[in-house]
Amino acid sequence: MTTPAPGNSRDVISAQRGIHQHLEATVRKHVSTPWRKPVADFSRTTLDGLLPWLTAGDRPLIIDACCGTGMSTRLLAARYPHCRVLGLDKSAQRVGRHQGGGGDYQVVRADVQDMWRLLRDAGIKPVMHTLFYPNPYPKAAQLGSRWYGSPAFPALLNLGGHLQVRSNWALYIEEFAFALKVAGYESEISQITPTAGDYISLFEKKYSESGHVLTALSANLNRAGDPV
Ligand SMILES: C[S@@+](CC[C@H](N)C(=O)[O-])C[C@H]1O[C@@H](n2cnc3c(N)ncnc32)[C@H](O)[C@@H]1O
Repeated sequence: MTTPAPGNSRDVISAQRGIHQHLEATVRKHVSTPWRKPVADFSRTTLDGLLPWLTAGDRPLIIDACCGTGMSTRLLAARYPHCRVLGLDKSAQRVGRHQGGGGDYQVVRADVQDMWRLLRDAGIKPVMHTLFYPNPYPKAAQLGSRWYGSPAFPALLNLGGHLQVRSNWALYIEEFAFALKVAGYESEISQITPTAGDYISLFEKKYSESGHVLTALSANLNRAGDPV
């Protein structure tokens, strides 16, 4: 898979060529070091408010991380009506623009860095975890802001479930797969070509209509004994 050359306005522009030289060491450090960033009190309050819904009945959970306006959350709930879907985004403005629909789902303003740890501590495990078009942070110096280069990465991994990531920056997906491999997980990469009426999210629509190449990753983060 190739990295778009800088200057093509339809693609993410980055001077970085190939897997970041510090990615392997960064992932190894994060998976072997406890992350001490405190969880915010308001995140605990958010989880407490969600727990009755999350624990009622036995519907499998899908987490739609960084869901933006929650279009994907609504569509996932429609696509998997036997599941409940939790959309999380830290932007009050984006969450406030959610256009509701039917289905067992919620779109909630929250920082996933806290929620990943709180959900895990509460014993709540998703069967699926989606991360559609996360901010790419394409400058090499921004490695630590990409989810797989962040100290939050082990918290995402520890939740388990089937992970699906999509990006308009092929290198983001290649690095995600590389980071997963370092952490001990296999993954698959494919190019996707969604069509009008089939877009999972607003960013997917925007990037597709602009002619971007879209790349997807899927990985099974379950360990033995996890729900399937
Ligand atoms: C490029 S947008 C993609 C939104 C949506 N997934 C889509 O495909 O349309 C990235 C989103 O990640 C959210 N985000 C970034 N960091 C976050 C965090 N720590 N917790 C929750 N959401 C976050 C931003 O608020 C933004 O809505």
